[in-house]
Amino acid sequence: MRGMISNKPILAADPRPRGVPAHVGVIMDGNGRWAASRGLPRIEGHRRGLEALRGAVRAAIDFGLDYLTVYSFSMENWSRPLEEVADLMGLLKRFIRNDLHDLHDANVKVKVIGRRDDLQPDIRGLLVEAEELTRANTGLNLIVAFNYGARQEIAAAARTLAEDVAAGRIKPSDIDEAFFAQRLDTAGVPDPDLIIRTSGEKRLSNFLMWQAAYSEFVFLPMHWPDFDRKAFAAALAEFGSRERRFGGVTAADENGKART
Ligand code: IPE
Ligand code: IPE
Ligand code: MG
Repeated sequence: MRGMISNKPILAADPRPRGVPAHVGVIMDGNGRWAASRGLPRIEGHRRGLEALRGAVRAAIDFGLDYLTVYSFSMENWSRPLEEVADLMGLLKRFIRNDLHDLHDANVKVKVIGRRDDLQPDIRGLLVEAEELTRANTGLNLIVAFNYGARQEIAAAARTLAEDVAAGRIKPSDIDEAFFAQRLDTAGVPDPDLIIRTSGEKRLSNFLMWQAAYSEFVFLPMHWPDFDRKAFAAALAEFGSRERRFGGVTAADENGKART
């Protein structure tokens, strides 16, 4: 499995080879530092970050992934200067206005996770439009985490469950992991197999905390605008070389082969 992906381009028509993750989450970090290191304003880093996102979506289609979740704006990102927040909102609008039809033509199904209430009505409208237009598509599932926070998502899920218990619609004993997961924004979406973060930071920053329980992590030193198909393929190859155990033992362990 090791290195398989980087040795051979995988065509969209191929069935997903073993070792290729079904769901990849990406924490697109480092736009500001990319720009600062070139003496450019942060917005320029975000613009180039949008280019990198376009490339990542194309690559995800070609690599045969089922789901790509991209962390675009966290609930904590509101604490940035007003101007930067406005730039980031503007870029999301630009992405949907310019790219939605291309995504639709590529059979991509768009889903947006995160809190909608705090967003401007025109942005909310665009998000609904993107989901509605691509609802019946059967290709890559592109999940955009925008105004997303995992703690807020988990707290909101707990709140709806408490309301249902209080109203007598469910019993406390109905609540198990699977039941809880159905109340998250990602209900029905398989957990991410792999989470990639650029910029050298090694943290989740409130991204998919419930869903990442058994995800593999690949941290890349490059900033997000430099993330290209080659870097993506290398991260997938690294994933392919990992041994996932989910708390159990591997077949080799069971046979005593891995023990001395
Ligand atoms: C990621 O880049 C984009 C968003 C968080 C919206 P940053 O803007 O966080 O860039 P750095 O981390 O400051 O370099
Ligand atoms: C995480 O990056 C959020 C996104 C990439 C959208 P941040 O730049 O906001 O995370 P911290 O502040 O470095 O943890
Ligand atoms: Mg950052």
